Amino acid sequence: MALTTHTVSSNMIPINKPWIGEEEKREVASVLEENALTTAARDGGRRVRDFESQMKSYLKAKHVVSVNSGTAALHAALMAAGIKQGDEVLIPSFTFVATANAVVAAGGRPVFVDVKKDDYTIDVSDLKKKITKRAKVVIPVHLYGHPSDMDEIGELADKHALDVVEDACQSLGSTYKKKQTGTFGVMGCFSMYASKVLTAGEGGAVATDSDELADRLKMIRNHGMVEGYDTRVLGLNLRLPELSAAVAKVQMQKLDKMLQIRRRNAELMSKLLFPSAKKHGIKIPEETADKKFNWYLYTVAFQNGSRDRIKNALVKDNIGATIYYNPPAHKTPYYMQVAPKTSLRATDWCADHVLSLPVHPYVSEADIDHIASSLKAVLEKSNIS
Ligand SMILES: Cc1ncc(COP(=O)(O)O)c(C=O)c1O
Repeated sequence: MALTTHTVSSNMIPINKPWIGEEEKREVASVLEENALTTAARDGGRRVRDFESQMKSYLKAKHVVSVNSGTAALHAALMAAGIKQGDEVLIPSFTFVATANAVVAAGGRPVFVDVKKDDYTIDVSDLKKKITKRAKVVIPVHLYGHPSDMDEIGELADKHALDVVEDACQSLGSTYKKKQTGTFGVMGCFSMYASKVLTAGEGGAVATDSDELADRLKMIRNHGMVEGYDTRVLGLNLRLPELSAAVAKVQMQKLDKMLQIRRRNAELMSKLLFPSAKKHGIKIPEETADKKFNWYLYTVAFQNGSRDRIKNALVKDNIGATIYYNPPAHKTPYYMQVAPKTSLRATDWCADHVLSLPVHPYVSEADIDHIASSLKAVLEKSNIS
């Protein structure tokens, strides 16, 4: 079989890269040695249970039910929430399209809500306007690891009897008022895709404090069965294989360290970029007393249509600067049919102006220096103000 040739330079600093070491390799090898690749038992295999228990302690959640992707986590959560055909689910459009796809897969109707230009999370004032009698669930997405306004969302959800299901696929380790994102709603959904702060290659998890929902989620991930061939609710095969759980389990032990390096990188980047940010009117990501980031990505907004030019210059300098969610979900051909006439001004602005930079654990302080210098040089050269 021919191997794919990578077109990027080997010096390229990628936007993300899983931090995999000997520990993960050993654990995967032990799964193979035991020939225990997966199990359809209700509570999963040993490594699935280990991983769930570690994540439960980390999040301070009563239950964590692992599944095989973040998309599966969202889909299973919406099924567990009892979404019925035509129920409305409020979501931002400025997100990975999986958020919307999970809604449609569960039989719901996505209603797209605008985001705020300052942190790219759901805009509560627009959310208020979009709630109808058919609305059942709101999914705040903690995009780029930035926590959404959970107090305001919670208040509004209570007032309108909406369930909050968090899309915390990008925000493991981010906190709102010192509490982990993904633990505010009735359920919180996580992804362990290869680019995420904690990876299993592919994988996902749902956190919940409800015994009843945890029970239902375990059935949903396993064809609705409890003891085998006794399907009680609609379910699918959403189980996390032991091979993936082995990686996730070891990654859990390294999570604090990985987040520490991301923070070191992000703080250094902010320090180096701060003077240029002021001079050239660019917006760098800022934490607040209540919102602490996991620094999944370091996302910057540029003025005056300069973003694409800047991105190209950075890529020439071997920096994997990346534009995400352009087009946003509501402007993709499929969702233009599902949700026609959606108009979201801030979302469109973000899709045209923001750029993400790498701060993952393989990025060294020298790399951050290189990224900041390269960015400053292009800003000076283009005379952007
Ligand atoms: C915001 C968001 N939601 C959902 C997903 C879906 O996760 P997965 O790719 O694991 O299915 C992702 C990640 O890819 C994501 O970034």
